[in-house]
Amino acid sequence: MGSVRLQRISPLLADWVANVGRLCLPEAIFELVDLRNWPLPMMDEPAIPAHAADYSTPHAQAWSQKIASADAFVFVTPQYNWGYPAALKNALDHLYHEWQHKPALIVSYGAHGGDKCAAQLRQVLTALSLHVTEQHVALTLSSEQILRNDGYIALPEAVQSQGAALQTGLMELRQLLR
Ligand SMILES: Cc1cc2nc3c(=O)[nH]c(=O)nc-3n(C[C@H](O)[C@H](O)[C@H](O)COP(=O)(O)O)c2cc1C
Repeated sequence: MGSVRLQRISPLLADWVANVGRLCLPEAIFELVDLRNWPLPMMDEPAIPAHAADYSTPHAQAWSQKIASADAFVFVTPQYNWGYPAALKNALDHLYHEWQHKPALIVSYGAHGGDKCAAQLRQVLTALSLHVTEQHVALTLSSEQILRNDGYIALPEAVQSQGAALQTGLMELRQLLR
């Protein structure tokens, strides 16, 4: 989940993604990674992650183990001012080798589906040598959903209509694993 805001819609959308994933790929284990549970101060490691053999802080070491333990990633992220959240960039930049050569699917959301943040994220993930699926899932939220994003709204219909695109993305993700 890319959002760490106190009142955010991301858990609702990420749950939906994980549940579709569990139906679509029953042999896989889908785990939600909430960056609020992985507090990473802004770039407090002395070494450049791409050059580092190890990390000096316990939080970077724990984050490294978490990401190293996963085979693939689905990034569920909002668009903020045409980009993706700073917390997600910080979490990506803390590591390097742990991301490499693993498949990734981008699920973006916003008033227009978050295409601009998805394009930026695709570029950064490619720099980290992640294999990003061609399929991108764009979830369009209404202004009412954006204003009332306290986690208690029902799953927007516009989101559910993207189920087929999500399934296509997940199947592509699985193919990239092989
Ligand atoms: C700082 C900020 C900037 C935003 N910028 C955009 C934007 O550029 N485009 C857009 O469609 N929505 C934008 N929004 C609306 C978000 O897409 C919407 O609030 C969404 O619910 C945020 O996800 P979250 O609740 O999981 O944090 C912005 C919201 C915030 C908080």
